Amino acid sequence: MMLFWLILLAGFSLTASLDNGLALTPPMGWLTWERFGCNTDCEHDPKNCIGENLIKAMAHEMVDGGYLEAGYQYVCIDDCWPSKERDSEGRLVPDPKRFPNGMKALANYVHALGLKFGIYEDFGTKTCGGYPGSEFYLQTDANTFAEWGVDLLKFDGCHSNPKDMDAGYEAMSLYLNKTGRPILFSCEWPLYQSGSMTPDYDAIRRTCNMWRDYGDINDSWDSVLNTIGIVAANKFNQSSYAGPGGWNDPDMLVVGDFGLSPDQEKTQFAMWAMFAAPLLMSNDLRSISSVSRELLLNTRIIAVNQDKLGVQGTLLIELSNIQIWNRPILPKGSYAIVVLNRGEGGSAARISVKGQQLGLNDPKGYALVNVFDGSSMGYLTPTGSLELSINPTGVVMFTVTLKQDTTLHFVRYNKT
Ligand SMILES: *[C@@H]1O[C@H](CO)[C@@H](O)[C@H](O)[C@H]1NC(C)=O
Ligand SMILES: *[C@@H]1O[C@H](CO)[C@@H](O)[C@H](O)[C@H]1NC(C)=O
Ligand SMILES: *[C@@H]1O[C@H](CO)[C@@H](O)[C@H](O)[C@H]1NC(C)=O
Repeated sequence: MMLFWLILLAGFSLTASLDNGLALTPPMGWLTWERFGCNTDCEHDPKNCIGENLIKAMAHEMVDGGYLEAGYQYVCIDDCWPSKERDSEGRLVPDPKRFPNGMKALANYVHALGLKFGIYEDFGTKTCGGYPGSEFYLQTDANTFAEWGVDLLKFDGCHSNPKDMDAGYEAMSLYLNKTGRPILFSCEWPLYQSGSMTPDYDAIRRTCNMWRDYGDINDSWDSVLNTIGIVAANKFNQSSYAGPGGWNDPDMLVVGDFGLSPDQEKTQFAMWAMFAAPLLMSNDLRSISSVSRELLLNTRIIAVNQDKLGVQGTLLIELSNIQIWNRPILPKGSYAIVVLNRGEGGSAARISVKGQQLGLNDPKGYALVNVFDGSSMGYLTPTGSLELSINPTGVVMFTVTLKQDTTLHFVRYNKT
């Protein structure tokens, strides 16, 4: 009987994830790319160039600023770290001017602060920035990264043929496994295939801990909104492949940079929580505003992102500029809900929505909590109405939990 149930349960579960014990919830950390790009000019811009000083400074900020305590664990270098040539044995070498102590020392430094260390390479002949790629060196590079103490590898796909990626990414995943060091594998495989072919998401989930589905985000509302639109379209049903061990990656958080208003920053953070997305900040933690910092450290929103059920949220209702997203979370029967107003001008949008339209069908009703400030938004029954006001390019986000205790006084939120 027991065996029967196990088999039955297995039949309903997701494709197996990459079996390295990592990314059981979406990875959290910091990544150089969006904010610091391929700045290699350490002579004139020593504080912001891709080098060990930047990584050390950011690692300290992650600890001192409370980010590590909140869950942000990985400090990651993106492109433009290596020398232009491999060494005589074909191994990658970090740029000696910018990483004078080498990568192993830097990884040790990061580890001593309680953080994990991430690095970048590319499946093709060159990286996107023109540095040596891993093609023909997959095993050598996997071994090098393991020797250095790397904990996460972001593996890009410039200068390669998307048709080779199924085999190539699987080979790299195998070589990483063979090193014996658990290394979180962040892939860009579906991004490069999605234009011309249908990515094999079963294979991707078996091979990678996270995967980029579309192009790079940038520090603008257009880019954030565009990304939300692509997730909403869910062209390959990729949302259903997210789960413990493997996640869709809509790219970095630009919260704390220059391009988003305070409402738009809240929107990006709320939506990435709904997407069960990796939370990789790309900002300057040395000079971030306290408003952005507090948002990034919001424990209730992080809890939604990190929810152990691991189900990616989906678009429930779309009406003109209003989108309503929901994400099942624990305890069973609970949801996180975001109402997004994509409209850009004028005044706040006002809507009225019934509990049942939000998928809240238990007649005992639900308790609503605003995740931004932790305040109660009262209770809602399937037939009760919720009235909301949503700022332009902003969101309202709340959790709904089954109201088990029927003796509690019933309050309908904002009854008209
Ligand atoms: C390698 O793969 C095996 C089998 O899937 C798994 O049990 C093991 O934990 C993996 N090791 C690493 C270091 O990822
Ligand atoms: C940022 O992204 C938007 C939306 O995808 C795009 O239209 C714009 O050209 C991008 N800007 C830059 C500087 O790449
Ligand atoms: C998406 O994938 C899930 C899980 O595999 C499946 O149940 C569902 O029918 C799929 N939806 C579409 C539209 O293909």
